[in-house]
Amino acid sequence: MKPANSTLGPILLVVGARPNFMKIAPLYSELKERGRPQLLLHTGQHYDENMSKVFFDDLGLPEPDIYLGVGSGSHATQTATIMVKFEEVCQEVRPSIVVVVGDVNSTLACTIVAKKMNIPTAHVEAGLRSWDMRMPEEVNRKLTDSVADILLTPSMDGNHNLIREGRSEDDIFFVGNIMIDSLVYCLERSPETHILRKLDISKRKYGVLTLHRPSNVDDRDSMSSIISALTEIGKNIEIVFPIHPRTKNMIREMGLSEKLSEVPNLKTLDPLGYLEFIAIVANSKVVLTDSGGLQEETTFLKIPCITLRDTTERPITVTHGTNTIVGNQTMKIIKAFNESMAQDYAEMDDLPLWDGETAGRIAGIIEDYLGV
Ligand code: UD1
Repeated sequence: MKPANSTLGPILLVVGARPNFMKIAPLYSELKERGRPQLLLHTGQHYDENMSKVFFDDLGLPEPDIYLGVGSGSHATQTATIMVKFEEVCQEVRPSIVVVVGDVNSTLACTIVAKKMNIPTAHVEAGLRSWDMRMPEEVNRKLTDSVADILLTPSMDGNHNLIREGRSEDDIFFVGNIMIDSLVYCLERSPETHILRKLDISKRKYGVLTLHRPSNVDDRDSMSSIISALTEIGKNIEIVFPIHPRTKNMIREMGLSEKLSEVPNLKTLDPLGYLEFIAIVANSKVVLTDSGGLQEETTFLKIPCITLRDTTERPITVTHGTNTIVGNQTMKIIKAFNESMAQDYAEMDDLPLWDGETAGRIAGIIEDYLGV
């Protein structure tokens, strides 16, 4: 359904946490090129320089026009604080449409507020489902998709999920994966960071590890089981591990720092910016992760990805990509690692519409919707 209001306010783009920035940057620059009035709002869910500001710089995003500064907190506190502050912004700005991305608390909070104010809402990365409602992101995804007006999916499984949940085909648009737009843009710039030399690592001779899911890092047994696997894997290959602040805190609190320090050939680092991170991933031999986005980035880059989770909301990375879902048991991780060393994905096909052109398709759909 089209919006009733013909006096159009700006397009309001929302970001909040690290995985949002690379999904909004290509759309921001596309809308700017088209001369569309827009405002960039950052909720401040992530706030450390290396979790936030460095991404703005790497991705060519300007300072946000509006910063809510909500910071960390329990799910209820964080979501509610964003809602209260975002409502005030919407009252003042009267946006023509709100665009949210991904599945973080900021995504859900801003969608609820916009919809209750009858402001049209577009969700980029709609339709992904892990079918695991213990994941806070799955709750965010389902609730956001149940009310957003424009549902922009990265892959056709997203369309099927949304239709199965009762959404009309008219609201669903398969646009491709916008994160690949950022990846393509940054791959050209990432060698400039010289990060491999800085870390003293050589192309295809190391693995990259990232961990931040509560199901892994907030649970001592899970974390310990993963570290045991790393102790074995580290005998075969160097492992580079940029540590998320949540993970760093939990490892210390759970008394696992010593066990981690005994993993051979492990390089632990503070979180990296996007350009440096893309450079180390693109040149790695294998990636071990519980991230969602990395499952997609490694598929695009044709690098084996071992996902330390029991489920994925991105099944296309398993059926058509480089991803293997293994959970967090020591022996399963080691087995998957050994198998990945023999894999060669170089000849694998690219996925449909993961082509670096998704932002243009989304901008066109928003313009049609607004009638501009
Ligand atoms: C959030 C998202 C998750 C996403 C992840 C990427 C939700 C529910 N979760 O999880 O989907 O994959 O971001 O990073 O939205 N902290 C800092 N500095 C920061 C941000 C966080 O030190 O800039 C620490 C704080 O101790 C905080 C903890 O990390 O309590 C967790 O941060 P939070 O934003 O609640 O969740 P993430 O685990 O980052």
